[in-house]
Amino acid sequence: MKRRAAIIGLGHQAAEDHLPGLLGSSRAELVAVCDNNPDILHQRADTLGVPGFTQAGDLLDETVPDFVIVAVPHHAGRAVTEECAARGVHVLKEKPFATSVEEARELAGICHKGRVELMVTLQRRFNPIYSSVAGMLDQIGTPFLVGGHCSFHTPDPGAGWRGDLKQAGGGCILDMGYHLIDLLLWYFGLPSRVIAEFSTTALPEGGYDAEDTAVVQLGYDSGLYGSLVLSRWMAPKTEFMRVGRLPPRPVRDRR
Ligand SMILES: NC(=O)c1ccc[n+]([C@@H]2O[C@H](COP(=O)([O-])OP(=O)(O)OC[C@H]3O[C@@H](n4cnc5c(N)ncnc54)[C@H](O)[C@@H]3O)[C@@H](O)[C@H]2O)c1
Repeated sequence: MKRRAAIIGLGHQAAEDHLPGLLGSSRAELVAVCDNNPDILHQRADTLGVPGFTQAGDLLDETVPDFVIVAVPHHAGRAVTEECAARGVHVLKEKPFATSVEEARELAGICHKGRVELMVTLQRRFNPIYSSVAGMLDQIGTPFLVGGHCSFHTPDPGAGWRGDLKQAGGGCILDMGYHLIDLLLWYFGLPSRVIAEFSTTALPEGGYDAEDTAVVQLGYDSGLYGSLVLSRWMAPKTEFMRVGRLPPRPVRDRR
């Protein structure tokens, strides 16, 4: 039996990934969509041929989905998730899980109380390129240095909610660095020390306060050092992570 799925937030990420994913799924069917912008909603709902709602609560009450994909701007994620949890509806939430530690604790409590599962879309964890690295790290020797880079050029870092710290909760670290940071945690665990420098000045007349560029330095008690360079100002569009290792220790000849 197919699970009944709904999408709340019909912007870029829903159109690029979630709608094609659901429409092609043999295990879930799209039963409703929601966007609080009526123009976007009607455009999408008409094409998809499913009921559309401007309020998440109305969608949940009227269509009773098994789970909901939440793909709204960062500041709206908590309230929508709370509405789902209050009705016992499971959530696949777009990253970030939360915009602060406090919000993360609240969300965890809300989901626990509502007995719902919340999964965050960290899709690299299901990509063989990244999962194969997790399996190979043991074989390459002791990691010594790790460097991650994620950048692209947006001509206006202040455009939309992403340029506004209150709505986005953070700039390129939270929005773009999230995936690389998750990979670092997956591969190497929590660092012992973190220092970050960031800038909101790539476009001084842009009037935005969410960082456009950041350099993050990491230190692990194991002796591993790392850095992340993140920018939504610097072309070309690039994402990579490199790991350097210590040379294998020579095996002593015991003869
Ligand atoms: N996993 C990834 O690789 C990836 C990639 C891009 C974006 N994202 C995430 O997806 C989420 C959405 O990003 P986006 O680029 O699609 O943004 P977007 O601005 O293109 O779309 C967000 C949509 O949500 C709607 N919306 C806002 N508040 C709402 C509410 N309370 N109820 C219903 N609809 C509401 C807006 O009208 C808009 O259509 C963000 O959390 C972002 O970080 C993840």
